[in-house]
Amino acid sequence: MAKNFDVVVIGAGPGGYIAAIRAAQLGLQVACIDEWSTPEGKPAPGGTCTNVGCIPSKALLQSSENFDHAGHTFADHGISVKGLSIDVGQMLARKDKVVKQNNDGILYLFKKNKVTFFHGKGAFAGGGSGAWQIQVSGKSAEVLTAKHVIIATGSNPRALPDMPFDNKLVLDNAGALAIAETPKKLGVIGAGVIGLEMGSVWRRLGAEVTVLEALPAFLGAVDEQVANEALKVFTKQGLDIKTGVKVGKITAKKNVTVEYTDNAGAAQTLVVDKLIVSIGRVPNTNGLNGNSVGLKIDERGFVAVDGDCKTNLPGVWAVGDVVRGPMLAHKAEEEGVAVAERIAGKHGHVDFNTVPWVIYTSPEIAWVGKTEQQLKQDGVKYRAGSFPFMANGRARALGDTTGFVKFLADERTDRILGVHIIGPMASELIAEAVVAMEFGASSEDIAMICHAHPSLSEAMKEAALAVDNRTLNL
Ligand code: FAD
Ligand code: NAI
Repeated sequence: MAKNFDVVVIGAGPGGYIAAIRAAQLGLQVACIDEWSTPEGKPAPGGTCTNVGCIPSKALLQSSENFDHAGHTFADHGISVKGLSIDVGQMLARKDKVVKQNNDGILYLFKKNKVTFFHGKGAFAGGGSGAWQIQVSGKSAEVLTAKHVIIATGSNPRALPDMPFDNKLVLDNAGALAIAETPKKLGVIGAGVIGLEMGSVWRRLGAEVTVLEALPAFLGAVDEQVANEALKVFTKQGLDIKTGVKVGKITAKKNVTVEYTDNAGAAQTLVVDKLIVSIGRVPNTNGLNGNSVGLKIDERGFVAVDGDCKTNLPGVWAVGDVVRGPMLAHKAEEEGVAVAERIAGKHGHVDFNTVPWVIYTSPEIAWVGKTEQQLKQDGVKYRAGSFPFMANGRARALGDTTGFVKFLADERTDRILGVHIIGPMASELIAEAVVAMEFGASSEDIAMICHAHPSLSEAMKEAALAVDNRTLNL
């Protein structure tokens, strides 16, 4: 007999599991279905983010940064380390432990919030307005019925044409997070977020890393001044970043040979031990059986939704990577919460203008709002103020003075339009800018607020002061 719920969520990534919890908190009967399994076949909720994305990548970034510090910056502090080495197996085991803690945490949260979890694949099996049937195929086959369905099936890595991932030589994100020993030579195709984060991990551990990027501009979506600074720093760290290339034939046998044309049009060959392909991700609607119920998919393969995440089917919603907008875990979560609230008759809302972006390289890059080039293109008159970490006492004490904070504010109203950071702890500092923009603050508002001394956050205040040409410490 079918099991009845108010809401069935398909997918337990950040979009799905958060939607399920919020809906249950609001008193709805909720089921969440997810097919991700551990190597032992146990449930592994958390999606890409927890299993092969945000969490494991940050675990490896931390391990490799510690190694890098021990080798390069400890001596400055008078600390000597002899015979420094890295046990990659232990590093990966630690990463797996961190992932498992997150998987277990989600299962615990489901129990606590009375969300019924099904481990298996969820697919539309019929129904219509107000009564959808979802087939679960897994260890036990079940049919669930629900008034509302939330599709949160995420995304998959995009492969190069004619070069499928084997995760031995040609790696997607999962493969890049599980390289068993540091490759001597590592190739990366795509100088986007994954390419730079994973390239940094393996560079810090000693690999020679070459990054091939198709676009002529490096980090085109990032504020140009920040992107230029980043390119300078990453190059100094040993990442060999080649922009404006055209990747041709790839041969993967014992190692990987990449034929490409460089930005001057000359034919080149790159031979590497492993190749990470990080050229973006594609929405995942595989196996949902959406066709059978007439679910509309847009021309780029995303589930088509309106501004409220409603699909073309009554009571069917979609959130996260499987719909338009940035492919970010926190964006997926916000949409999940908003949809749960709308189902419960509340007024959930997501402000896409204040979704922060972070690239967890060293230095970190973080931003919110418009870049300088976007403002110019839109013809918006603005004032800019920057402050370098070089002039920040806490950054000097940390021994990490790379980068700067930059505020962009409306020329007439002084309202903050964008904040861009490259430097230590940018991922944490950006939160202040997000709050400020959400409250419609001006740069003067930030400039007038007392910031603790010594702290990196003083660079935020100083950059806000700089908008009015009145920095104090520069
Ligand atoms: P997903 O997390 O992909 O979850 C979808 C879930 O649905 C999966 O568990 C899948 O198994 C399940 N599923 C799919 N189809 C079915 C079905 N038919 N039945 C049952 N289950 C199904 N974002 C950030 O914000 N910060 C970061 O630092 C960050 N780092 C990243 C690093 C890497 C290497 C990668 C690849 C991504 C990273 N991201 C990061 C992006 C982030 O992982 C995604 O934006 C986020 O996971 C999207 O959440 P989601 O819930 O939409 O989908
Ligand atoms: P991306 O979109 O960030 O970067 C892909 C890069 O590959 C682009 O610069 C693109 O121009 C380039 N490219 C595309 N085709 C190419 C080709 N044939 N040859 C050479 N270069 C090519 O995608 P990425 O890095 O795969 O990450 C996917 C998504 O995952 C990101 O967009 C982001 O949403 C999410 N993510 C977020 C992270 C974070 O928030 N810190 C970390 C990692 C991933």
